[in-house]
Amino acid sequence: MRHKDTVSLREMMKGYTALDTEDTLSDQQEQVAMPPMAVVRGGKTLPLPEWEVSHFSTLLEGRRSQRAYDGSPLTLEELAFLLWAAQGVRAFRKDTATLRTAPSAGARHPLELYAFVNGVEDLEPGLYHYLALENRLELINQTPEQGKRLADALAGQVFAGNAPVCLVWTAVPYRSEWRYDNKAQKYTLLDAGHSCQNVYLACESLGLGCCAIAAYEQEKLDALLGLPSGPSEDKTAEFAIYACCVGRPK
Ligand SMILES: Cc1cc2nc3c(=O)[nH]c(=O)nc-3n(C[C@H](O)[C@H](O)[C@H](O)COP(=O)(O)O)c2cc1C
Repeated sequence: MRHKDTVSLREMMKGYTALDTEDTLSDQQEQVAMPPMAVVRGGKTLPLPEWEVSHFSTLLEGRRSQRAYDGSPLTLEELAFLLWAAQGVRAFRKDTATLRTAPSAGARHPLELYAFVNGVEDLEPGLYHYLALENRLELINQTPEQGKRLADALAGQVFAGNAPVCLVWTAVPYRSEWRYDNKAQKYTLLDAGHSCQNVYLACESLGLGCCAIAAYEQEKLDALLGLPSGPSEDKTAEFAIYACCVGRPK
C-alpha cells in the first residue's frame, strides 16, 4: 500500500466489529440525553408549495423498511431487476468506465454485488455474484445452512437470514483509491447508499419489501462470501460493507 492511512481508512469502512469492542457503550446505552433531531438556525422561514402527486412521488411515499415476509419466493425476473437497479450498466465509456443505474464518484464503481439466494424460482439456493458488466449471475458457493449462518453473520437478524434474497455489497477500495487516493473510502461508502436506495425504490415498484442492513459481523460475513478477513492492505482487497434483504411483504 502507498500510505499507512489507507489501511486505517479501509478498516474504518468496516465499522462495527472492526472498531468497537464489546465493552464500548454508546451514549444512548449510557442514557445520555438525545441530541436535537434538527438544527435550528433561527432564520426567517417560508412555506413550500404542494407538488403534484406522481408515480415517482408515490414510490417515495410508500418506501419503508420491511422485515416481515410471506415466505413466497421471488421470481428470477424480479431478482434480475433488483440487481440491475442496484448496479446495472447502462453504458460503457470506451473500455475505461461504466455508467450505471446508480451514480458513482468519477464513475469508478468500486462496489461488487452478491446475492444470498434462499427463495427464487428457477434458481438453486446459494451465493451468487452479479457480473454487472455482462448482466449475468455467477454461482460462488452453496453452503449448508446458509440462512442460519447468514443470520449469525448479520448480527443475529433472523429475518434477514431467512429472507428469500439478501443482497450484499462489497467494496474493492483500490478501484476508487487509484484515482482519489484517501478520499476514495468516503466516496465508496456514499456510492453504496445510492445503490441501496435504488433497491428500495425498485422493490417498492415491484410490490416487494426490503430492509437495509449495516449491523453485521465483518469477519463472519466476509468468510461467508469467501473473502479473506483481517486488515486489507493490497490492491485486490475486497470486503463487505452493506446488505439489504428482500422478500414479499406479509
Ligand atoms: C445505513 C443503514 C443501516 C441499517 N441497518 C439496519 C439493520 O442492520 N437492521 C435493520 O433492521 N434495519 C436497518 N436499517 C433500516 C433502518 O432501521 C430504517 O431505515 C429506519 O428505521 C427508518 O425506517 P424506514 O426505512 O422504514 O423509513 C438500516 C438503514 C440504513 C440506512
